[in-house]
Amino acid sequence: MANDDLIAIDTEHNVPRHIAIIMDGNGRWAQKRFMPRAVGHQAGVKAVRKIVEYCASHHVEVLTLFAFSSENWRRPEAEVSLLMTLFMATLQREINKLDRNSIRLRFIGDRLAFSEKLQQKMAEGEAQTQNNKALTLVVAANYGGHWDMCQAFLQVQKKMATGELKTEDINDRLINQYLSTAGLPDPDLFIRTGGEQRVSNFMLWQLAYTELYFTTTLWPDFDQNSLEDAIKSFRSRQRRFGHTSEQVLNQSVTL
Ligand code: IPE
Ligand code: IPE
Ligand code: MG
Repeated sequence: MANDDLIAIDTEHNVPRHIAIIMDGNGRWAQKRFMPRAVGHQAGVKAVRKIVEYCASHHVEVLTLFAFSSENWRRPEAEVSLLMTLFMATLQREINKLDRNSIRLRFIGDRLAFSEKLQQKMAEGEAQTQNNKALTLVVAANYGGHWDMCQAFLQVQKKMATGELKTEDINDRLINQYLSTAGLPDPDLFIRTGGEQRVSNFMLWQLAYTELYFTTTLWPDFDQNSLEDAIKSFRSRQRRFGHTSEQVLNQSVTL
């Protein structure tokens, strides 16, 4: 691995370069208030806005948000359909705002399962914001870590069949180029709200050396102070990437 892969923190601004979040707990947030789960999802969108604003103004390079998993289709039809409507409405409302704030929007996940209209809006959002230089906002929609690896392996296999790639070419750097996150640094900080301590098929390859942070705060209650707590925890950790603690402290290796 080259040293440039290991840069963990934006030293100038002292924030993780890439934060990836499983936004969990919308349903429970609403149920606690005796309201339908839909209200929780709506409140969840408001929390997204605050967190995006924080990351954009604090020089985070990439923010990845898990919006809908490849397993979430198993939910009741009415909830899936509500989530799709909310997704579309949010894109319609927010794309220009993201663009004005120089935020680049990118989607990861199998988008072919979405309606044509939604796919079109997603493509529009990506095209409109593609040259923006501030935060890259990655929205994981119909995303699963297993799906991501399978689609990467399939692309590699096709290139091997045509002779464009050979067995010797296969290594982690090459696989990285075919994952949906190609070109992005791996997450430095992973956050899961809502109290569960699992990764639920999120970025399985990319989380190899990510610092994990779990909080019981439900996603709609997760605000800028909550994010600062997570970043504080991240800063207090020593990332070793296989080295010894002494090596890191003596700076005999570049992280
Ligand atoms: C996360 O909140 C949002 C999505 C999965 C779309 P949940 O809807 O999973 O909320 P809980 O876990 O039921 O509280
Ligand atoms: C993970 O949350 C997916 C998203 C937040 C989009 P879930 O609530 O679906 O995860 P599980 O099913 O509890 O693992
Ligand atoms: Mg959940």
